[in-house]
Amino acid sequence: MSLKENNLVKKVTNKGFLDIPIPKKLNLIKEIKKLKKEKNAVLLVHYYQDPLIQELADYLGDSLYLAQMASKINNDKIVMAGVHFMAETAKIVNPSKKVLLPDLKAGCSLADSCPPRDFKLFKKKYPNAIVVTYINCSAEIKTLSDIVCTSSNAKKVIESIPNDKEIIFAPDKNLGKYLIKETGRNMILWNGSCIVHEAFSFDKILKLSNENPDAKFIAHPESDSVILDFASFVGSTTGLLNFVQRDLSKKYIVATEVGILHEMKKKCPDKIFIPAPVQDDSCACSECAYMKMNTLDKLYNCLLYELPEVNLSKEIISKAKKPIERMLELG
Ligand code: 13P
Ligand code: SF4
Repeated sequence: MSLKENNLVKKVTNKGFLDIPIPKKLNLIKEIKKLKKEKNAVLLVHYYQDPLIQELADYLGDSLYLAQMASKINNDKIVMAGVHFMAETAKIVNPSKKVLLPDLKAGCSLADSCPPRDFKLFKKKYPNAIVVTYINCSAEIKTLSDIVCTSSNAKKVIESIPNDKEIIFAPDKNLGKYLIKETGRNMILWNGSCIVHEAFSFDKILKLSNENPDAKFIAHPESDSVILDFASFVGSTTGLLNFVQRDLSKKYIVATEVGILHEMKKKCPDKIFIPAPVQDDSCACSECAYMKMNTLDKLYNCLLYELPEVNLSKEIISKAKKPIERMLELG
């Protein structure tokens, strides 16, 4: 590695991203599009990203779609405008590609809530259980799993497991509780949650719904069960997006990260979408602070310098690949 490259890597190590000033007059949108071509890079973007980044996507979607697309990419580089576990998943399913993430500190409260050391001890208590992990977990947790799922296919994954088998579901207790209700399977749950989906206020949602009797309330299954029980429809990010396109209502109160409203408004320009209210009025809690760590500046530097890169050991890749592939095989 040259001295210059070495210094750049050091910069990333300190901050998690390349903090290099960008010339003021630069048209970042144009430059990012140009760099994608020059570098033979594909930009995968989650619906929770800033709308400006969503507009630059080669592929825009939910966690399942991004994992599926990452496994099919032939280009040299994959840039993940999402969070760390999504970049790790891309590396696991397509290890020969250089996988870049604009900010390495773009983490996830669900992934953080499940440290591998604690999870190993937890797993030991149920030696015969099948371990199903939500994709929102670290690569190391995936190596301890039998099958991975996302919110789009979780029900299908649980239903694929023989009825006589005990199931551990981690790390999201809310999605877990929802799946227990939906499938009738009595699973052992890990006690993790998403800070964004747990921030919604049931009382305020109730009040807002009373003020807007023509609005349908819809929610992501990472939300608390009181909120899910009140929803007219529960679904993954893509599930919610598909629902508002086929449903006949004109107005929706949406309990998930606000980034999805951008695509909802694009797909249904005549409909009204209201973000569900959160408990703390002083915070922008329905925005995922981790997802929003990726900015246009960081994306530009990431493409230009091809850093930060997400790497995993061969051992982790080979062990984590199996449960992800089992999920992808289910379709
Ligand atoms: P989906 O992309 O599966 O809807 O999950 C939402 C989420 O919280 C991603 O971090
Ligand atoms: Fe994690 Fe929740 Fe952010 Fe998704 S929205 S990345 S689950 S913290």
